[in-house]
Amino acid sequence: MKSIPIILLGCGGVGRQLLQHIISCRSIHSKQGIVIKVVGVSDSTSLLVSDDIMLTGMEDEFLTAICHAKSAGSPLKFLLNQSGHCQLFTEKEAVEKIVAIASSLGGTTGLAVVDCSASGETIDVLKQVSSLGSCVVLANKKPLTCAIEDFEKLAFHFRRIRFESTVGAGLPVIASVTRVISSGDPISRIVGSLSGTLGYVMSELEDGKAFSEIVRAAKSLGYTEPDPRDDLSGMDVARKGLILARLLGWRINLTDIKIESLYLSEFGPDSMSMEDFLAKGLSQLDEKLKERVAIASLKGNVLRYVCVIQDSRCNVGIQELPKDSALGRLRGSDNVVEIYSRCYEKSPLVIQGAGAGNDTTAAGVLADIIDLQDLFA
Ligand SMILES: NC(=O)c1ccc[n+]([C@@H]2O[C@H](COP(=O)([O-])OP(=O)(O)OC[C@H]3O[C@@H](n4cnc5c(N)ncnc54)[C@H](OP(=O)(O)O)[C@@H]3O)[C@@H](O)[C@H]2O)c1
Ligand SMILES: *[C@@H]1O[C@H](CO)[C@@H](O)[C@H](O)[C@H]1NC(C)=O
Ligand SMILES: *[C@@H]1O[C@H](CO)[C@@H](O)[C@H](O)[C@H]1NC(C)=O
Repeated sequence: MKSIPIILLGCGGVGRQLLQHIISCRSIHSKQGIVIKVVGVSDSTSLLVSDDIMLTGMEDEFLTAICHAKSAGSPLKFLLNQSGHCQLFTEKEAVEKIVAIASSLGGTTGLAVVDCSASGETIDVLKQVSSLGSCVVLANKKPLTCAIEDFEKLAFHFRRIRFESTVGAGLPVIASVTRVISSGDPISRIVGSLSGTLGYVMSELEDGKAFSEIVRAAKSLGYTEPDPRDDLSGMDVARKGLILARLLGWRINLTDIKIESLYLSEFGPDSMSMEDFLAKGLSQLDEKLKERVAIASLKGNVLRYVCVIQDSRCNVGIQELPKDSALGRLRGSDNVVEIYSRCYEKSPLVIQGAGAGNDTTAAGVLADIIDLQDLFA
Protein backbone atom coordinates (compact mmCIF):
# COMPACT_ATOMS: atom_id res chain seq x y z
CA MET A 1 0.00 0.00 0.00
CA LYS A 2 1.19 3.46 -0.89
CA SER A 3 0.46 5.86 1.93
CA ILE A 4 -0.37 9.52 1.27
CA PRO A 5 -0.17 11.55 4.50
CA ILE A 6 -2.08 14.83 4.40
CA ILE A 7 -2.58 17.85 6.61
CA LEU A 8 -5.86 19.65 5.98
CA LEU A 9 -5.96 23.41 6.52
CA GLY A 10 -9.54 24.61 6.93
CA CYS A 11 -12.51 22.55 7.93
CA GLY A 12 -15.46 24.45 6.49
CA GLY A 13 -17.92 23.33 3.81
CA VAL A 14 -15.20 22.13 1.44
CA GLY A 15 -12.76 20.73 4.01
CA ARG A 16 -15.45 18.65 5.70
CA GLN A 17 -16.73 17.36 2.38
CA LEU A 18 -13.16 16.33 1.54
CA LEU A 19 -12.85 14.34 4.77
CA GLN A 20 -16.15 12.62 3.97
CA HIS A 21 -15.00 11.80 0.43
CA ILE A 22 -11.74 10.38 1.77
CA ILE A 23 -13.65 8.11 4.15
CA SER A 24 -16.17 6.95 1.56
CA CYS A 25 -13.46 6.28 -1.04
CA ARG A 26 -11.39 4.03 1.27
CA SER A 27 -12.28 0.82 -0.56
CA ILE A 28 -11.77 2.31 -4.05
CA HIS A 29 -8.41 3.68 -2.98
CA SER A 30 -7.35 0.43 -1.42
CA LYS A 31 -8.11 -1.38 -4.71
CA GLN A 32 -5.74 1.14 -6.32
CA GLY A 33 -3.14 0.40 -3.66
CA ILE A 34 -3.45 3.82 -2.03
CA VAL A 35 -4.32 4.89 1.49
CA ILE A 36 -4.81 8.54 2.46
CA LYS A 37 -3.72 9.19 6.04
CA VAL A 38 -5.01 12.38 7.61
CA VAL A 39 -2.29 13.35 10.08
CA GLY A 40 -3.50 16.87 10.90
CA VAL A 41 -6.54 19.12 10.58
CA SER A 42 -6.71 22.83 11.32
CA ASP A 43 -9.31 25.57 11.57
CA SER A 44 -8.86 29.31 12.15
CA THR A 45 -7.77 28.88 15.76
CA SER A 46 -5.98 25.57 16.13
CA LEU A 47 -4.35 22.50 14.65
CA LEU A 48 -5.01 18.92 15.74
CA VAL A 49 -2.20 16.47 14.97
CA SER A 50 -2.31 12.72 15.28
CA ASP A 51 0.30 11.29 17.68
CA ASP A 52 1.43 8.58 15.31
CA ILE A 53 1.98 10.47 12.09
CA MET A 54 4.31 7.69 10.92
CA LEU A 55 1.66 5.00 11.36
CA THR A 56 -2.05 5.34 10.86
CA GLY A 57 -3.08 8.98 11.11
CA MET A 58 -6.51 9.88 12.47
CA GLU A 59 -9.18 7.22 12.61
CA ASP A 60 -12.22 7.59 10.37
CA GLU A 61 -14.49 7.68 13.38
CA PHE A 62 -12.59 10.67 14.72
CA LEU A 63 -12.63 12.40 11.32
CA THR A 64 -16.40 11.97 11.27
CA ALA A 65 -16.60 13.46 14.76
CA ILE A 66 -14.55 16.43 13.53
CA CYS A 67 -17.02 16.97 10.67
CA HIS A 68 -20.00 16.84 13.00
CA ALA A 69 -18.47 19.18 15.54
CA LYS A 70 -17.35 21.71 12.93
CA SER A 71 -20.71 21.77 11.19
CA ALA A 72 -22.34 22.35 14.57
CA GLY A 73 -20.07 25.37 14.96
CA SER A 74 -17.61 24.12 17.59
CA PRO A 75 -13.95 24.94 17.25
CA LEU A 76 -11.54 22.03 16.73
CA LYS A 77 -9.97 22.48 20.12
CA PHE A 78 -13.15 21.15 21.77
CA LEU A 79 -12.40 17.77 20.21
CA LEU A 80 -9.09 17.20 21.89
CA ASN A 81 -10.65 15.11 24.66
CA GLN A 82 -12.52 12.89 22.22
CA SER A 83 -9.34 11.36 20.95
CA GLY A 84 -6.58 10.14 23.20
CA HIS A 85 -4.20 10.18 20.26
CA CYS A 86 -4.00 13.82 19.29
CA GLN A 87 -2.14 16.96 20.20
CA LEU A 88 -3.38 20.51 19.86
CA PHE A 89 -1.32 23.46 18.63
CA THR A 90 -2.24 27.09 18.26
CA GLU A 91 -0.82 30.15 16.50
CA LYS A 92 2.94 30.07 15.97
CA GLU A 93 3.26 26.56 17.34
CA ALA A 94 0.74 25.27 14.81
CA VAL A 95 2.87 26.59 11.97
CA GLU A 96 6.04 25.20 13.55
CA LYS A 97 4.41 21.80 13.94
CA ILE A 98 3.34 21.69 10.30
CA VAL A 99 6.85 22.67 9.21
CA ALA A 100 8.33 20.00 11.50
CA ILE A 101 6.07 17.32 10.00
CA ALA A 102 7.00 18.52 6.53
CA SER A 103 10.69 18.23 7.32
CA SER A 104 10.33 14.70 8.61
CA LEU A 105 7.93 13.43 5.94
CA GLY A 106 8.54 15.80 3.03
CA GLY A 107 11.74 14.21 1.81
CA THR A 108 10.88 10.62 2.84
CA THR A 109 7.36 9.22 2.52
CA GLY A 110 6.03 12.55 1.29
CA LEU A 111 3.35 14.86 2.66
CA ALA A 112 0.53 16.85 1.07
CA VAL A 113 -0.63 20.04 2.73
CA VAL A 114 -4.18 20.70 1.52
CA ASP A 115 -5.46 24.27 1.80
CA CYS A 116 -9.26 24.34 2.04
CA SER A 117 -9.27 27.51 4.12
CA ALA A 118 -10.49 30.85 2.89
CA SER A 119 -7.52 32.65 4.41
CA GLY A 120 -4.77 34.81 2.96
CA GLU A 121 -2.52 33.80 5.84
CA THR A 122 -1.64 30.26 4.84
CA ILE A 123 0.86 31.39 2.20
CA ASP A 124 3.85 31.41 4.57
CA VAL A 125 3.41 27.88 5.79
CA LEU A 126 2.70 26.69 2.24
CA LYS A 127 5.94 28.23 0.99
CA GLN A 128 7.88 26.61 3.81
CA VAL A 129 6.48 23.11 3.37
CA SER A 130 6.88 23.37 -0.36
CA SER A 131 10.55 24.21 -0.06
CA LEU A 132 10.93 21.19 2.26
CA GLY A 133 9.76 18.84 -0.48
CA SER A 134 6.09 18.55 0.43
CA CYS A 135 3.19 18.68 -2.00
CA VAL A 136 0.61 21.46 -1.85
CA VAL A 137 -3.01 21.19 -2.99
CA LEU A 138 -5.29 24.23 -2.92
CA ALA A 139 -8.98 25.04 -3.14
CA ASN A 140 -8.11 28.40 -1.57
CA LYS A 141 -7.38 31.04 -4.22
CA LYS A 142 -5.77 33.60 -1.95
CA PRO A 143 -2.24 32.13 -1.72
CA LEU A 144 -2.07 32.11 -5.52
CA THR A 145 -3.43 35.62 -5.98
CA CYS A 146 -1.32 37.61 -3.54
CA ALA A 147 2.20 38.77 -4.41
CA ILE A 148 3.57 37.43 -7.69
CA GLU A 149 6.76 36.38 -5.89
CA ASP A 150 4.71 34.09 -3.63
CA PHE A 151 2.89 32.59 -6.59
CA GLU A 152 6.19 31.94 -8.30
CA LYS A 153 7.69 30.32 -5.21
CA LEU A 154 4.78 27.88 -5.05
CA ALA A 155 4.54 27.32 -8.79
CA PHE A 156 8.30 26.79 -9.05
CA HIS A 157 7.71 23.27 -7.70
CA PHE A 158 5.20 22.60 -10.46
CA ARG A 159 5.33 18.83 -10.08
CA ARG A 160 4.33 19.12 -6.46
CA ILE A 161 1.48 21.63 -6.56
CA ARG A 162 -2.13 21.21 -7.72
CA PHE A 163 -4.87 23.84 -7.63
CA GLU A 164 -7.53 22.55 -9.99
CA SER A 165 -10.43 23.47 -7.69
CA THR A 166 -9.48 27.15 -7.50
CA VAL A 167 -10.99 27.76 -10.97
CA GLY A 168 -14.30 26.15 -11.92
CA ALA A 169 -14.33 23.89 -8.83
CA GLY A 170 -14.09 20.27 -10.03
CA LEU A 171 -13.99 21.16 -13.76
CA PRO A 172 -10.62 20.39 -15.39
CA VAL A 173 -9.86 23.99 -16.35
CA ILE A 174 -6.31 24.24 -14.98
CA ALA A 175 -5.48 20.77 -16.30
CA SER A 176 -6.72 21.68 -19.78
CA VAL A 177 -4.82 24.97 -19.90
CA THR A 178 -1.71 23.20 -18.62
CA ARG A 179 -1.96 20.51 -21.30
CA VAL A 180 -2.36 23.04 -24.09
CA ILE A 181 0.67 24.96 -22.78
CA SER A 182 2.70 21.74 -22.47
CA SER A 183 1.93 20.82 -26.06
CA GLY A 184 3.62 24.02 -27.18
CA ASP A 185 0.36 25.34 -28.60
CA PRO A 186 0.30 29.10 -27.91
CA ILE A 187 -2.87 30.23 -26.14
CA SER A 188 -4.15 33.51 -27.55
CA ARG A 189 -7.32 34.00 -25.55
CA ILE A 190 -9.22 32.55 -22.62
CA VAL A 191 -12.79 33.67 -21.93
CA GLY A 192 -14.61 32.29 -18.94
CA SER A 193 -17.89 32.65 -17.13
CA LEU A 194 -16.50 31.65 -13.76
CA SER A 195 -19.21 32.66 -11.33
CA GLY A 196 -22.30 30.49 -11.09
CA THR A 197 -24.16 33.38 -9.49
CA LEU A 198 -23.28 35.90 -12.20
CA GLY A 199 -23.93 33.31 -14.92
CA TYR A 200 -27.42 32.88 -13.53
CA VAL A 201 -27.95 36.64 -13.25
CA MET A 202 -26.88 37.26 -16.85
CA SER A 203 -29.05 34.54 -18.34
CA GLU A 204 -32.08 35.76 -16.37
CA LEU A 205 -31.40 39.32 -17.61
CA GLU A 206 -31.62 37.99 -21.14
CA ASP A 207 -35.16 36.82 -20.40
CA GLY A 208 -36.13 40.42 -19.72
CA LYS A 209 -36.28 40.37 -15.94
CA ALA A 210 -35.09 43.33 -13.87
CA PHE A 211 -31.59 43.04 -12.43
CA SER A 212 -32.70 43.88 -8.89
CA GLU A 213 -35.47 41.26 -8.99
CA ILE A 214 -33.06 38.61 -10.24
CA VAL A 215 -30.49 39.29 -7.53
CA ARG A 216 -33.10 39.31 -4.79
CA ALA A 217 -34.50 36.01 -6.07
CA ALA A 218 -31.01 34.51 -6.35
CA LYS A 219 -30.28 35.50 -2.78
CA SER A 220 -33.46 33.93 -1.46
CA LEU A 221 -32.68 30.74 -3.38
CA GLY A 222 -29.28 30.61 -1.67
CA TYR A 223 -27.38 31.12 -4.96
CA THR A 224 -25.40 34.10 -3.69
CA GLU A 225 -22.97 34.80 -0.90
CA PRO A 226 -24.72 35.99 2.29
CA ASP A 227 -24.03 39.56 1.09
CA PRO A 228 -24.63 39.43 -2.70
CA ARG A 229 -22.16 42.28 -3.17
CA ASP A 230 -19.41 39.69 -2.62
CA ASP A 231 -20.51 38.11 -5.91
CA LEU A 232 -21.44 41.34 -7.70
CA SER A 233 -18.06 42.96 -7.02
CA GLY A 234 -16.42 40.56 -9.48
CA MET A 235 -13.49 40.07 -7.12
CA ASP A 236 -13.84 36.30 -6.99
CA VAL A 237 -13.90 36.10 -10.80
CA ALA A 238 -10.85 38.38 -10.91
CA ARG A 239 -8.92 36.01 -8.62
CA LYS A 240 -9.74 33.11 -10.94
CA GLY A 241 -8.73 35.18 -13.96
CA LEU A 242 -5.47 36.08 -12.25
CA ILE A 243 -4.68 32.42 -11.58
CA LEU A 244 -5.26 31.61 -15.27
CA ALA A 245 -3.20 34.58 -16.45
CA ARG A 246 -0.33 33.66 -14.14
CA LEU A 247 -0.56 30.08 -15.38
CA LEU A 248 0.11 31.51 -18.85
CA GLY A 249 3.27 33.02 -17.40
CA TRP A 250 2.03 36.58 -17.07
CA ARG A 251 3.65 38.44 -14.20
CA ILE A 252 0.59 40.47 -13.18
CA ASN A 253 -1.13 41.35 -9.91
CA LEU A 254 -4.77 41.61 -8.91
CA THR A 255 -4.46 45.40 -9.21
CA ASP A 256 -3.57 45.05 -12.91
CA ILE A 257 -6.98 43.53 -13.65
CA LYS A 258 -9.76 45.87 -14.73
CA ILE A 259 -12.84 44.79 -12.80
CA GLU A 260 -16.37 45.97 -13.54
CA SER A 261 -18.44 45.83 -10.37
CA LEU A 262 -22.20 45.25 -10.67
CA TYR A 263 -22.99 47.78 -7.97
CA LEU A 264 -22.14 51.45 -7.78
CA SER A 265 -19.24 52.28 -5.48
CA GLU A 266 -21.40 54.55 -3.31
CA PHE A 267 -23.52 51.50 -2.42
CA GLY A 268 -20.62 49.41 -1.15
CA PRO A 269 -20.47 47.58 2.19
CA ASP A 270 -18.62 50.49 3.78
CA SER A 271 -21.38 52.98 3.11
CA MET A 272 -24.60 50.98 3.08
CA SER A 273 -26.11 48.06 4.97
CA MET A 274 -27.03 44.97 3.02
CA GLU A 275 -30.73 45.54 3.69
CA ASP A 276 -30.61 49.06 2.23
CA PHE A 277 -28.61 47.79 -0.69
CA LEU A 278 -31.16 45.09 -1.49
CA ALA A 279 -34.07 47.49 -1.06
CA LYS A 280 -32.64 50.57 -2.82
CA GLY A 281 -29.07 50.35 -4.13
CA LEU A 282 -29.65 47.34 -6.30
CA SER A 283 -32.33 48.84 -8.53
CA GLN A 284 -30.08 51.72 -9.64
CA LEU A 285 -28.58 49.52 -12.34
CA ASP A 286 -31.88 48.08 -13.63
CA GLU A 287 -32.46 50.54 -16.49
CA LYS A 288 -28.88 50.67 -17.70
CA LEU A 289 -28.57 46.89 -17.84
CA LYS A 290 -31.91 46.50 -19.59
CA GLU A 291 -30.66 48.92 -22.23
CA ARG A 292 -27.38 47.05 -22.68
CA VAL A 293 -29.21 43.74 -23.10
CA ALA A 294 -31.40 45.30 -25.81
CA ILE A 295 -28.46 46.85 -27.69
CA ALA A 296 -26.55 43.57 -27.65
CA SER A 297 -29.58 41.66 -28.81
CA LEU A 298 -29.95 43.89 -31.90
CA LYS A 299 -26.52 42.68 -32.97
CA GLY A 300 -27.32 39.02 -32.30
CA ASN A 301 -25.27 39.12 -29.15
CA VAL A 302 -25.85 38.40 -25.48
CA LEU A 303 -24.24 39.81 -22.36
CA ARG A 304 -22.11 37.60 -20.15
CA TYR A 305 -20.10 38.42 -17.07
CA VAL A 306 -16.72 37.00 -17.97
CA CYS A 307 -13.02 37.24 -17.50
CA VAL A 308 -11.17 37.80 -20.77
CA ILE A 309 -7.47 37.04 -20.95
CA GLN A 310 -6.03 38.29 -24.21
CA ASP A 311 -3.31 40.59 -25.61
CA SER A 312 -1.52 40.94 -22.25
CA ARG A 313 -4.70 42.18 -20.60
CA CYS A 314 -7.05 40.55 -18.14
CA ASN A 315 -10.47 42.19 -17.90
CA VAL A 316 -13.37 41.14 -15.75
CA GLY A 317 -16.89 42.40 -16.46
CA ILE A 318 -19.82 42.36 -18.84
CA GLN A 319 -18.99 41.54 -22.45
CA GLU A 320 -21.12 41.18 -25.55
CA LEU A 321 -20.64 37.70 -26.99
CA PRO A 322 -22.20 35.97 -29.99
CA LYS A 323 -25.44 34.18 -29.11
CA ASP A 324 -24.11 31.27 -31.09
CA SER A 325 -21.03 30.49 -28.98
CA ALA A 326 -20.50 28.20 -26.01
CA LEU A 327 -20.68 31.22 -23.71
CA GLY A 328 -23.65 32.69 -25.53
CA ARG A 329 -25.59 29.44 -25.19
CA LEU A 330 -24.87 29.25 -21.48
CA ARG A 331 -27.98 29.11 -19.31
CA GLY A 332 -28.22 29.00 -15.54
CA SER A 333 -25.33 28.66 -13.15
CA ASP A 334 -22.87 26.49 -15.09
CA ASN A 335 -19.31 27.68 -15.57
CA VAL A 336 -17.96 27.81 -19.12
CA VAL A 337 -14.39 28.39 -20.23
CA GLU A 338 -13.35 28.83 -23.88
CA ILE A 339 -9.66 28.38 -24.67
CA TYR A 340 -8.35 29.70 -28.02
CA SER A 341 -4.95 28.71 -29.33
CA ARG A 342 -3.36 27.89 -32.68
CA CYS A 343 -4.93 24.42 -32.63
CA TYR A 344 -8.18 25.72 -31.18
CA GLU A 345 -8.42 28.85 -33.27
CA LYS A 346 -11.88 28.79 -34.86
CA SER A 347 -13.38 26.16 -32.63
CA PRO A 348 -12.20 26.74 -29.08
CA LEU A 349 -11.61 24.09 -26.47
CA VAL A 350 -14.67 24.39 -24.22
CA ILE A 351 -15.04 23.19 -20.66
CA GLN A 352 -18.50 23.42 -19.15
CA GLY A 353 -20.34 22.17 -16.09
CA ALA A 354 -21.21 22.92 -12.51
CA GLY A 355 -18.44 25.18 -11.24
CA ALA A 356 -19.19 25.51 -7.55
CA GLY A 357 -20.42 23.61 -4.56
CA ASN A 358 -18.72 21.89 -1.67
CA ASP A 359 -19.11 18.48 -3.22
CA THR A 360 -17.59 19.16 -6.67
CA THR A 361 -14.89 21.35 -5.15
CA ALA A 362 -13.87 18.68 -2.64
CA ALA A 363 -13.96 16.03 -5.37
CA GLY A 364 -11.53 18.16 -7.39
CA VAL A 365 -9.24 18.45 -4.37
CA LEU A 366 -9.31 14.70 -3.83
CA ALA A 367 -8.49 14.07 -7.50
CA ASP A 368 -5.56 16.49 -7.15
CA ILE A 369 -4.23 14.56 -4.14
CA ILE A 370 -4.52 11.24 -5.96
CA ASP A 371 -2.85 12.77 -9.01
CA LEU A 372 0.26 13.35 -6.87
CA GLN A 373 0.53 9.71 -5.77
CA ASP A 374 3.74 9.03 -7.68
CA LEU A 375 5.54 11.43 -5.35
CA PHE A 376 4.75 9.27 -2.32
CA ALA A 377 6.76 6.32 -1.11
N1 LIG B 1 -17.55 26.21 -1.81
C1 LIG B 1 -17.25 26.32 -3.08
O1 LIG B 1 -18.08 26.16 -3.95
C2 LIG B 1 -15.83 26.64 -3.50
C3 LIG B 1 -15.43 26.50 -4.84
C4 LIG B 1 -14.10 26.73 -5.20
C5 LIG B 1 -13.20 27.15 -4.24
N2 LIG B 1 -13.62 27.33 -2.96
C6 LIG B 1 -12.64 27.79 -1.98
O2 LIG B 1 -12.44 26.77 -1.02
C7 LIG B 1 -12.07 27.37 0.21
C8 LIG B 1 -12.95 26.83 1.30
O3 LIG B 1 -14.30 27.19 1.06
P1 LIG B 1 -15.42 26.91 2.15
O4 LIG B 1 -16.70 27.21 1.49
O5 LIG B 1 -15.20 25.57 2.74
O6 LIG B 1 -15.08 28.04 3.22
P2 LIG B 1 -15.58 28.12 4.74
O7 LIG B 1 -16.77 27.25 4.92
O8 LIG B 1 -15.62 29.53 5.08
O9 LIG B 1 -14.40 27.41 5.56
C9 LIG B 1 -13.16 27.98 5.75
C10 LIG B 1 -12.41 27.18 6.79
O10 LIG B 1 -11.09 27.70 6.88
C11 LIG B 1 -10.75 27.86 8.25
N3 LIG B 1 -9.69 28.86 8.38
C12 LIG B 1 -9.75 30.22 8.37
N4 LIG B 1 -8.54 30.75 8.52
C13 LIG B 1 -7.66 29.73 8.63
C14 LIG B 1 -6.26 29.63 8.80
N5 LIG B 1 -5.50 30.72 8.90
N6 LIG B 1 -5.71 28.39 8.85
C15 LIG B 1 -6.46 27.29 8.73
N7 LIG B 1 -7.80 27.31 8.58
C16 LIG B 1 -8.40 28.51 8.53
C17 LIG B 1 -12.06 28.25 8.90
O11 LIG B 1 -11.94 28.06 10.29
P3 LIG B 1 -13.17 28.26 11.31
O12 LIG B 1 -13.98 27.01 11.15
O13 LIG B 1 -12.49 28.34 12.63
O14 LIG B 1 -13.85 29.50 10.90
C18 LIG B 1 -13.01 27.28 8.20
O15 LIG B 1 -12.95 26.03 8.81
C19 LIG B 1 -12.22 28.87 0.02
O16 LIG B 1 -10.96 29.43 -0.20
C20 LIG B 1 -13.09 28.99 -1.21
O17 LIG B 1 -12.84 30.18 -1.93
C21 LIG B 1 -14.90 27.06 -2.58
C1 LIG C 1 -21.40 24.17 1.72
O1 LIG C 1 -21.19 23.98 3.09
C2 LIG C 1 -21.63 25.05 3.88
C3 LIG C 1 -21.22 24.74 5.30
O2 LIG C 1 -21.57 23.43 5.65
C4 LIG C 1 -23.14 25.19 3.76
O3 LIG C 1 -23.60 26.29 4.53
C5 LIG C 1 -23.45 25.44 2.30
O4 LIG C 1 -24.86 25.49 2.14
C6 LIG C 1 -22.88 24.34 1.44
N1 LIG C 1 -23.07 24.72 0.06
C7 LIG C 1 -23.61 23.93 -0.83
C8 LIG C 1 -23.80 24.49 -2.20
O5 LIG C 1 -23.97 22.79 -0.57
C1 LIG D 1 3.10 43.27 -8.45
O1 LIG D 1 3.38 43.40 -7.09
C2 LIG D 1 4.74 43.13 -6.73
C3 LIG D 1 4.82 43.18 -5.24
O2 LIG D 1 4.22 42.06 -4.74
C4 LIG D 1 5.65 44.13 -7.36
O3 LIG D 1 6.99 43.80 -7.06
C5 LIG D 1 5.43 44.12 -8.85
O4 LIG D 1 6.15 45.17 -9.42
C6 LIG D 1 3.95 44.28 -9.19
N1 LIG D 1 3.83 44.07 -10.61
C7 LIG D 1 3.11 44.87 -11.38
C8 LIG D 1 3.06 44.51 -12.83
O5 LIG D 1 2.49 45.82 -10.94
